[in-house]
Amino acid sequence: MEASSKFFLLLFLPTLALLTTPSYSQTTPTGGDDSLAPAPAPDPGCNGVQLTYDLWGGATKIRPFVTDPKQQAYAFRARGTVLNSGTTTLKSWALLIKFKYKEIIVNLEKAVLTNGADLPYNTTLDANATSFSGNPSTDLLTPIATANDFNLIQGTVDIVGTLFGAPETLNPLPESLSLADPSYICPPLPKPGNWSFSVTTCCMPDPKFKNTTVITNITDPRKDYKDPPHGDLIISYDITQAYASSYLALVTIENKARLGRLDNWHLSWTWKRNEFIYSMKGAYPLDVDATGCIYGPQATNYQNLDFSKVLNCQRSPVILDLPLSHYNNTELGRINHCCRNGTILPEAMDPTQTKSSFQMQVFKMTPDLNITTIFPPASFKIAGGSPLNPDYTCGAPVRVAPTEFPDPSGLESNTSAFATWKVACNITVSKDTKPKCCVTFSGFYNDSVIPCSTCACGCPANRAGSTCSTTTPPMLLPPEALLVPFDNRTAKIKAWAELKHLPLPNPMPCADYCGVSINWHIATDYNKGWSARITLFNWDQVDFANWFAAIVMDDAYDGYEKMYSFNGTAVGNNTIFMQGLEGLNYLVKMSNGSTSSDPMVPGKQQTVISFTKKTAPGINVIGGGGFPSKVYFNGDECSVPTIFPQSAGFRNVVGLARQVTCADEIGKLDKITKFLFWSIVV
Ligand SMILES: *[C@@H]1O[C@H](CO)[C@@H](O)[C@H](O)[C@H]1NC(C)=O
Ligand SMILES: *[C@@H]1O[C@H](CO)[C@@H](O)[C@H](O)[C@H]1NC(C)=O
Ligand SMILES: *[C@@H]1O[C@H](CO)[C@@H](O)[C@H](O)[C@H]1NC(C)=O
Ligand SMILES: *[C@@H]1O[C@H](CO)[C@@H](O)[C@H](O)[C@H]1NC(C)=O
Ligand SMILES: *[C@@H]1O[C@H](CO)[C@@H](O)[C@H](O)[C@H]1NC(C)=O
Ligand SMILES: *[C@@H]1O[C@H](CO)[C@@H](O)[C@H](O)[C@H]1NC(C)=O
Ligand SMILES: *[C@@H]1O[C@H](CO)[C@@H](O)[C@H](O)[C@H]1NC(C)=O
Ligand SMILES: *[C@@H]1O[C@H](CO)[C@@H](O)[C@H](O)[C@H]1NC(C)=O
Ligand SMILES: *[C@@H]1O[C@H](CO)[C@@H](O)[C@H](O)[C@H]1NC(C)=O
Ligand SMILES: *[C@@H]1O[C@H](CO)[C@@H](O)[C@H](O)[C@H]1NC(C)=O
Ligand SMILES: *[C@@H]1O[C@H](CO)[C@@H](O)[C@H](O)[C@H]1NC(C)=O
Ligand SMILES: *[C@@H]1O[C@H](CO)[C@@H](O)[C@H](O)[C@H]1NC(C)=O
Repeated sequence: MEASSKFFLLLFLPTLALLTTPSYSQTTPTGGDDSLAPAPAPDPGCNGVQLTYDLWGGATKIRPFVTDPKQQAYAFRARGTVLNSGTTTLKSWALLIKFKYKEIIVNLEKAVLTNGADLPYNTTLDANATSFSGNPSTDLLTPIATANDFNLIQGTVDIVGTLFGAPETLNPLPESLSLADPSYICPPLPKPGNWSFSVTTCCMPDPKFKNTTVITNITDPRKDYKDPPHGDLIISYDITQAYASSYLALVTIENKARLGRLDNWHLSWTWKRNEFIYSMKGAYPLDVDATGCIYGPQATNYQNLDFSKVLNCQRSPVILDLPLSHYNNTELGRINHCCRNGTILPEAMDPTQTKSSFQMQVFKMTPDLNITTIFPPASFKIAGGSPLNPDYTCGAPVRVAPTEFPDPSGLESNTSAFATWKVACNITVSKDTKPKCCVTFSGFYNDSVIPCSTCACGCPANRAGSTCSTTTPPMLLPPEALLVPFDNRTAKIKAWAELKHLPLPNPMPCADYCGVSINWHIATDYNKGWSARITLFNWDQVDFANWFAAIVMDDAYDGYEKMYSFNGTAVGNNTIFMQGLEGLNYLVKMSNGSTSSDPMVPGKQQTVISFTKKTAPGINVIGGGGFPSKVYFNGDECSVPTIFPQSAGFRNVVGLARQVTCADEIGKLDKITKFLFWSIVV
């Protein structure tokens, strides 16, 4: 097939050549396939921003060799270029490359991943395209403003990577190239010819694009700043003092999420320019370690520096908050908002505990030894020390207008930071993240409790014996079973199943494996209002100091009246925020039973919450309106049952039979309520 088609070409091409161009014979030695011609020259017609992707030498097959061509790995080197040939500066260029061959990026030069991720980077993680940003230069000026200085008008990213399943004849080029700047339109790439090594496209300004960016401050001479980023957590990197070889940075972590929380936060980043931390106040690095400097370029750069005093030379240091006891320490503390043991709370709980700050002295390296040359670190990561803390993903630092601080000596003037960057981090919930808490439902009209779902908080991989089923729905519980650990419920559940004529699955369903569970119990429902009882159970080995919880009540929110034993606040968006009353905000860990033959006892806290029907008329409390749609504990969204307790034939008479006053109802506490109340009070 192959041979015959070549033969055909050889036979007929000379005739064609005679008819068209006499110089054809010059190219015939390469086989007569015109796609073998060198890569197309850059489009001479581009008056916008030209994007090019060049593969250097195609892709090289690497070990391991496999039989499935789709799985075969190849190494490649490529260069992406962004050339501004237009009349407006391209600010903060970001090149979007949509890869096609499951590319893994192993090394990058002259640019960074916009999302700040570490290398090697799996590009299949990007839903659409992988974004590369200039580093250190980010703005591309115009040819007119620079007399066509390529250093100022062109951005480059050099990529070394691995890809899978390169096709036989086509080079593994990307599917598309575009700019992140929404004001440009980038046409799709032309279909590359066989063996071509390069693709290019020319992005033009979109005449229909509406610029909605707000100018931060027109009169500020240094107005080249971006709008501050938005997110669930904002990290500010303020340069408060700058010298040629070092600077002082004030790092502030601020909670912006309504239900976000961190306990014992761990903050880390990656230095991009070989910087190192000389000293720190208000926080400290997990590893005090200068060996990286002593054997690195830093020791050459600073031959007279006593490196035994250097705090940390790691490329990606991990920073921890200091405990409260260091707040007044003149050497280590004395920074506003410092030394809070890494606790960051939501504003609804305590506005004075929503942020943490620390200060550090950073030494720079050549070629940055100039007072105006400062790069913020990249790849910020933050996590909490409690398993209930949410996961955060941070973006790249954004240069914003310098923060203004009130004058330290109390004068009316403000002092401004030398430079400020902000990083936005958002709470991320991946489909693999399991809740850490779960909810049980019950009501006065039904003596069975709807339990937490089987494996609500995930099933441990190595369940000893694995004698339970991870997929069987959980079994209804008698109320008293709520008070003992799952492992000690079995006999109670079996007896209850027998009493209620429920089938007994074999094997029995697995536990919920949640550290915290919350019982929501409808206690009363009368014509003017209704009430519920909330009980928090801690099955963990750790205390929860300063806990908070939140519930989302879609139909009942407008009728919220009050909480009796917790401090409850309606905070908008159908959300009721609650914490323990002052001095009682402590959910203790699981403890031993009173005698050695008793099961372990969970930590418990309980309140009654009351609602009126005046402002939420027509609510069907028992039918579902009286149950929260979402429940959070310490910021973690709990697993909530999908069914409600049934009121067997009772519902029809509710309207008539329950025409009694609230006081009467509280007096007639039902069995479950009495039981829980009793067991907690005692
Ligand atoms: C890249 O990610 C995809 C999907 O997330 C995964 O299937 C693949 O194994 C990853 N590749 C490597 C080399 O880790
Ligand atoms: C992916 O790209 C398409 C077309 O460019 C766009 O419409 C879509 O919003 C993008 N999706 C995401 C998640 O960015
Ligand atoms: C590229 O090569 C394939 C396979 O050899 C062939 O079918 C196709 O026609 C070629 N395309 C061009 C544009 O030459
Ligand atoms: C949008 O307007 C702002 C303020 O005038 C300007 O700085 C920015 O460059 C504009 N962006 C685009 C894409 O035109
Ligand atoms: C803009 O910046 C200038 C100089 O820093 C300052 O005096 C002025 O108050 C700022 N204006 C606004 C609206 O922020
Ligand atoms: C720090 O010192 C101030 C003033 O002496 C005092 O009011 C405060 O309680 C001290 N804080 C701590 C945490 O010791
Ligand atoms: C600080 O946090 C650690 C780790 O959770 C904890 O063990 C310690 O008791 C906390 N210290 C204070 C003073 O709260
Ligand atoms: C309830 O919480 C709010 C917000 O944190 C607080 O201002 C108020 O003092 C608290 N009330 C009680 C009684 O603890
Ligand atoms: C520092 O950088 C500025 C701006 O790039 C330059 O004008 C100045 O000469 C540099 N100073 C030194 C000491 O290199
Ligand atoms: C965080 O979320 C906000 C919207 O709430 C979005 O504008 C921002 O780009 C997100 N940042 C990151 C780093 O995902
Ligand atoms: C309610 O939720 C919306 C969207 O999630 C948000 O923009 C708004 O700020 C929230 N309102 C309050 C009072 O938190
Ligand atoms: C409760 O369950 C645990 C774990 O299975 C067991 O060790 C303990 O003996 C049980 N306690 C009682 C009182 O049944």
